[in-house]
Amino acid sequence: MKPTAKRIAHFKDSIFGVMSRLARENNAVNLGQGFPDFDGPEWLKKIAQDKIQSGHGQYAPFMGTPSLRTAVSRYYQRFYQLSYHPESEITVTAGATEGLFSTILASVDPGDVVIVLEPFYDSYVASIEMAGGVAIPVSLHAPHFSLVEQELQAAVTSKTKMIIVNNPHNPTGKVWEKSELEVVARFAVQHDLLVISDEVYEFLLFDGAKHFPLAQFPGMYERTFTISSAGKTFGLTGWKTGWVCAPAPLSKAVRLVHQYVTFSVTTPLQEAVAEGLERLENYLPEFQKLYCDKRDYFYKGLKDLGFHFELPRGTYFMMVPISGKTAKNDVDFALELVEKRKLATVPPSAFYLKSKEGGQYLRFCFAKKQETLQAALENLKGL
Ligand SMILES: Cc1ncc(COP(=O)(O)O)c(C=O)c1O
Repeated sequence: MKPTAKRIAHFKDSIFGVMSRLARENNAVNLGQGFPDFDGPEWLKKIAQDKIQSGHGQYAPFMGTPSLRTAVSRYYQRFYQLSYHPESEITVTAGATEGLFSTILASVDPGDVVIVLEPFYDSYVASIEMAGGVAIPVSLHAPHFSLVEQELQAAVTSKTKMIIVNNPHNPTGKVWEKSELEVVARFAVQHDLLVISDEVYEFLLFDGAKHFPLAQFPGMYERTFTISSAGKTFGLTGWKTGWVCAPAPLSKAVRLVHQYVTFSVTTPLQEAVAEGLERLENYLPEFQKLYCDKRDYFYKGLKDLGFHFELPRGTYFMMVPISGKTAKNDVDFALELVEKRKLATVPPSAFYLKSKEGGQYLRFCFAKKQETLQAALENLKGL
């Protein structure tokens, strides 16, 4: 038999799959998986039920239902004063992951270089490589996971086509300051790059942190694909409904790929998410409080156990330094925890290509029920 494609020969099972398997095998509490272990809001599930019951059983238009594209357009205007036309500038995708993949495939030619800021969401590099591109990492440095402008400048070559930024940031929980985004924006304009701004955690903000879409910065709107997802905003990751917003010429390219990758995304859920987005202002305070309480509870628990780090201001992740607790690196410590302490985490070195900094942390996801977080802290006692 002929072999399968060379372009995927070096891919491995994702670290999330590996840790979840180990969690199951060891009957461990799972703070590795980056999603809630509880369901999204009842009111939105009820809307989805009604949408299924009242029709909407056939293919949606491939670029997304008019209702959802309109609702996305309206919220970008309301929250960020950014104008995207529902007809030509918003594309609904099967979660942000497909949005990223379709955007990368639409932008990157074989041999093109894409700058990724590490630690990164793991699908970026895989998508770049599937497009035949080359991912060049620039590291964010502890303790604030800061970008060093000189390192960014040093990474650029004549082949650099794009930079991918994630804000708020998985896995660190960092919410980028305006001044930091200005550095990225100036850099992208200076080198005339395309930009992906992965903003799936745009509403998972705490302590008054403010989200600045990169497309708002001077010279950025015309070059930026902004990607987000209902999965994060409504705590319904299984709905896999995301979107890519970009000016018409860029959106046209994304749509050319998207039409052949998924064609279209589930119709009734798009209809439901559209109504959800119209109610964001009412919903967000309760949503943010839910996650903020979890963050505070888990952070205090870790602190009491002797873990010391800064409180993350966004997302539902914490990058927790492990050096005071073990001489092992992240992978070995994560294996020890899942086997001996019945606690699954994610070793973040999987999110780095270059720097060894990831070896000094574990990523915990705190989007979990109170009893799950309590059990996790219990299992860590006496380390
Ligand atoms: C930074 C980041 N981008 C994209 C995604 C994917 O989102 P979706 O579930 O909508 O595909 C995730 C999911 O964990 C993420 O953390």
